[in-house]
Amino acid sequence: MGARVIVYTGKGGVGKTSVAAATGVLCAGKGHKTLVVSTDVAHSLGDAFGQRVDAEPTQLGPGLWAQETDVYRTIRLYWGDVQRYFADVFQWRGLDAVVAEEMSVLPGLDELASLLQIVEHHEKGAFDVIIVDAAPTGETIRLLSLPEAMRWWLERILPLQRRAARLAGPLLRRLTGMPMPSDAVFRAGEDLFRKLDRMHRLLSDPESSSIRIVLNLERMVIAEARRSFTYFHLFGYPVDLIVCNRVLPEGVGAYFAPLREAQRAYLPRVQGAFAPVPIRIAAQFGNEVTGDETLRALGSAIFGDDDPAGFFYRGRPFRIERQNGALVLLLELPFVEKGEVDVARTGDELVVQVGPWRRNLMLPRVLADLPTAKADLDNGVLRVRFGSPGAAKAIET
Ligand SMILES: Nc1ncnc2c1ncn2[C@@H]1O[C@H](COP(=O)(O)OP(=O)(O)OP(=O)(O)O)[C@@H](O)[C@H]1O
Ligand SMILES: [Mg+2]
Repeated sequence: MGARVIVYTGKGGVGKTSVAAATGVLCAGKGHKTLVVSTDVAHSLGDAFGQRVDAEPTQLGPGLWAQETDVYRTIRLYWGDVQRYFADVFQWRGLDAVVAEEMSVLPGLDELASLLQIVEHHEKGAFDVIIVDAAPTGETIRLLSLPEAMRWWLERILPLQRRAARLAGPLLRRLTGMPMPSDAVFRAGEDLFRKLDRMHRLLSDPESSSIRIVLNLERMVIAEARRSFTYFHLFGYPVDLIVCNRVLPEGVGAYFAPLREAQRAYLPRVQGAFAPVPIRIAAQFGNEVTGDETLRALGSAIFGDDDPAGFFYRGRPFRIERQNGALVLLLELPFVEKGEVDVARTGDELVVQVGPWRRNLMLPRVLADLPTAKADLDNGVLRVRFGSPGAAKAIET
């Protein structure tokens, strides 16, 4: 039995680190042996806890550990052989040794390496709950979408390349002087992909992992949260909670009243966009969130007496399937039995209205350009069939 894994992500500055730390404090209080680990390269867990956090799990209190991974060490660990090879190639191309070294670290690899450590913690089983303070959403999604593509690469391309390098390598080397990858480089590459595969499997396993999106009630923040919500589902990562942080409470005075009004207006739209995944709200505090006491207050605002390690939603609000050559979006509308379904489109947004019930979903890129052809509701599942791009033109002309 592995650990419960909870990943907090969201746009920059929304409160991921604070909420992750607060969740950790509460989980430990519930008796779970808890590790809060930051995979963001810019660590700030230490600031949130108001205590020094090391590169190895550091005990902060009863049942509570935190870790700010050492990016360079983890990269060397998982990528060392490949990196040395790339550095050789770059140097052969005439790059300065230091620049070559810097370039040989793939973008995103730093965070990826930290995420791989989570798999190891999970497999070692030393903690009941692992809480991840991840990088801002865009980055995280890009990283989490990698393994699928990589698996394909691993299974089909790598064996061919390896054979080619064995056969043609010596000749190429003699003709061009370009360093050829050794078997150790291929092995290291394969090893990394295999670990990525395990990471993907762990984070997409709804029995152990959940992704939680932190947001603030601001237009750009909400837009990014919706986009990431869509893509997490597309890639099969379960989202079980939306944390709406820094909501202005009543009695903030005249100066903040317009801002508070704007936030209040956004709230129903946020609910419509993420349903049926629940939303929890935390107020804007009058002070910085740091140290045990404020973290506990933030945690209770979000979770009350609930166990933060629980699953707040299980299921997959939508799926995309290919049926008879057409792309079909299947949307769970569990509370709707039957009724007049109205499906409208505004750009990349799909607006579904069933009686008084409204749901708006941001479409992923594969669907955004296609016209909606037909929608029907059956057994609480709405099926929206999409046409081909050509079909749209045919209707227009
Ligand atoms: N509910 C809140 N009330 C008041 N201040 C808050 C609240 N939540 C977070 N903060 C403060 O906002 C700042 C940013 O929060 P935090 O570092 O948790 O965000 P983040 O999403 O992790 O940022 P980054 O993207 O830079 O990692 C911190 O100073 C934190 O103390
Ligand atoms: Mg942070």
